[in-house]
Formats: sequence, structure tokens, C-alpha cells
Amino acid sequence: MVKMTPPMGWNSWNTYGEQINESLIFETADALVDSGLFAKGYEYLVIDDCWSLKERDEKERLVADPVKFPHGMKAVADYVHSKGLKFGMYSCAGNLTCAGYPGSFEHEFLDAETFAEWGVDFLKYDYCYHSSIIHGKYLYQRMGLALENCGRDILFSACSWGADQTHEWIKSTGASMWRSTGDIFDTWESIKELVKQQNCLHPYNAVGCFNDMDMLVVGMYGKGNVGLKGCNDTQYKTHFSIWALLGSPLMIGCDVRHMSEETKRILGNEELILINQDKACRQPIKLNGFWQEEDCIIYARQLEHGEIAIGLFNLGQEATYARFNLDELGLPLSTGRTLKMKELWTGEELTVKNASVIWKLDPYDCAVFRAKVEKR
Ligand code: GLA
Repeated sequence: MVKMTPPMGWNSWNTYGEQINESLIFETADALVDSGLFAKGYEYLVIDDCWSLKERDEKERLVADPVKFPHGMKAVADYVHSKGLKFGMYSCAGNLTCAGYPGSFEHEFLDAETFAEWGVDFLKYDYCYHSSIIHGKYLYQRMGLALENCGRDILFSACSWGADQTHEWIKSTGASMWRSTGDIFDTWESIKELVKQQNCLHPYNAVGCFNDMDMLVVGMYGKGNVGLKGCNDTQYKTHFSIWALLGSPLMIGCDVRHMSEETKRILGNEELILINQDKACRQPIKLNGFWQEEDCIIYARQLEHGEIAIGLFNLGQEATYARFNLDELGLPLSTGRTLKMKELWTGEELTVKNASVIWKLDPYDCAVFRAKVEKR
């Protein structure tokens, strides 16, 4: 399967961990549709780790836990599909999954066939308990081939956390997305850390195989499996904006049955989603800016038709100014061109009069612009 823009959806891990079951999944499917998030592009509903029994059956097949999923996985897939959504599941390249359930090592083709029979459209494939003598690239190639041969279009979502130089070989495996960071937690420090980890990996984000910065924590407010301290709405807005602008898959991780108005507004920002889903899928760049505090980061990304997305992010706890020159975007004064910009959270519009832009940012806040090139 070749996916041309970053996948979008919801995943059970961040909020529920092991506490998953059929009714939760059904209610989540309903909520994704009723909240309007599905209509905005969040199409994959993914069940993460802890869905199976600890033993395979006599034919070596994975078995859904009958207490959590009393009607089996096919019934779950059918319900998810009946809402128009696509259905995702989880396995692991090792003997065991990260939470200690059976992994797919040496069962890759059988498991891919099982997933296909159940109607699975997406497989997240983790890296715990993997062989120490077989390189990760061979393990992911196996499952990539197994999925391509299973008779169903199943999106391959690799999750080796950037280990073993994943960026060097992942595109050979058929993966449509690959985890380029460690695990996210619902704290501001974790978000900042993942942004840092991502900084040298931008050149590897490409159409067909997207850098996955991990599931979103927007709207968790410290509740659930990776809840910890939680973040405030400004931090969630900035987190979402960075993931969107950098072209990461957007996988929601909160309880979508009970979202605050602000959570809905953040996850549902259509103009940010449009930037994330821009068909050109160009590499984002980090601008140097000038007189920049260390915690102030500026990213830009060329969009289709010569437009530019520009994000100014204050990761620090003090208000600051983001400052950059247009020549860093290919528009020195000598071109006779400038930018007409629209901020995508407030709708504010401006035309840049000088050679640079200076913009005040509150603590943890951001501004994201869609800019058009214009004659001065
Ligand atoms: C790893 C992954 C997480 C999640 C858990 C499940 O830590 O990186 O995203 O899937 O395993 O156990």
C-alpha cells in the first residue's frame, strides 16, 4: 500500500493502555464520527497492545481476548467499517509485544493473513523483545512482505522508535510511517524532548513514508495510561501545530467520547490539517532566525503551488519574540517579492513590509501561518 499523505486517526494506547474492550472501541468509533473528526480526516481507529490472549491457539494463530472482545476481532472490524472508518491493530517484531503478549516473530505471514481475514486496514508493528542476531531491517522487511502478500490493503506502521538507524532502511520495508522518536508522555518535557529528537530526521520525512513523532496527547489533561502531569491548552495547541507542520501522522490519543471544547478546536483545526496533508509532502526546514532564544523554534515548509507554511513556536516558559528574515525562505529583497500571511489559529492577516518578521509569542504559545508570495 502506498499512502500519499500522513495517516490520521486514533489509537488506544495513550489513554487506555491495557484497559481496552469492545464497547470502548464501539463508543470511540461512534464518537469519532459524531464529533466530526472523521469528516476532517481522522479515519483509522487503531487498537494498540494488549488485545490478545497470552497464548496462540493450536494452529499457532493469535486469539483475541474473549473477555475484552467477546465477539472476536472480525466483529470489531465490521462495526468500525460500518461507521466508514478504517480498522487498525497492533503486533510486534519480537517474540512478545512490549506489554508481554505474543509477538509476530516467526509468525509474520500467518499473522498478516489473520489480520487480513479479520478486515484489518492498518498494522502498527513494535520492536520490543526482538532478536538480537537478526537486524531490525530484516524483521520489518518480513512483515512488510507478509502484509503485501496477505490479500488485503494493510497500511504498515513501523514502530522501532528510530532505533538501529531506522531512517536508513525503513523505506525498503514498505512501511508508510515509521516512529522516529521514543514514546510520548502527557507532559510538556516529553513533547519538547520529541521535538529535539526529530530535529536531525526531517530530511527523511517523505511522501509514502512519514516520520511518526508518536500519538498526540492533546486533550488528555494528565488522565490515562501515559497521562502523568498533563499539559495546558496552549501547550496542546503548540504540540498539535508542530506535529501538523512537520508532516507527522496525526493519531489522536485522548478519550474522544469526552473532549473539551478546546480539544475539539485544536484537533479540528482544518487549516492546520490542510498543511499536514499538503500533497507536496516537502521536507520541513528549521530556520536560524535571529536574536533567537534557545526555546524559540521556527519551522517552514513549502506547500503545493508555491505557498509556504511557517510556524513560530515558543517552547519556553517566558514570553519571547520570534524573528526571521525572508531570505531564509528564498525571498531576499532582491527578488522584489514578499509574503502575504494568514495566522491559522486567529485568522489574522498581514503583508510583510520589511525584510524580516518579528512576532511576539506568549509562554508555550505558537503562531502558524500560511503564506503566499506577492510582488512588493
Ligand atoms: C511501545 C510503543 C508504544 C505502545 C507500547 C505498547 O512502547 O512505542 O507506542 O505501542 O509499546 O506496549
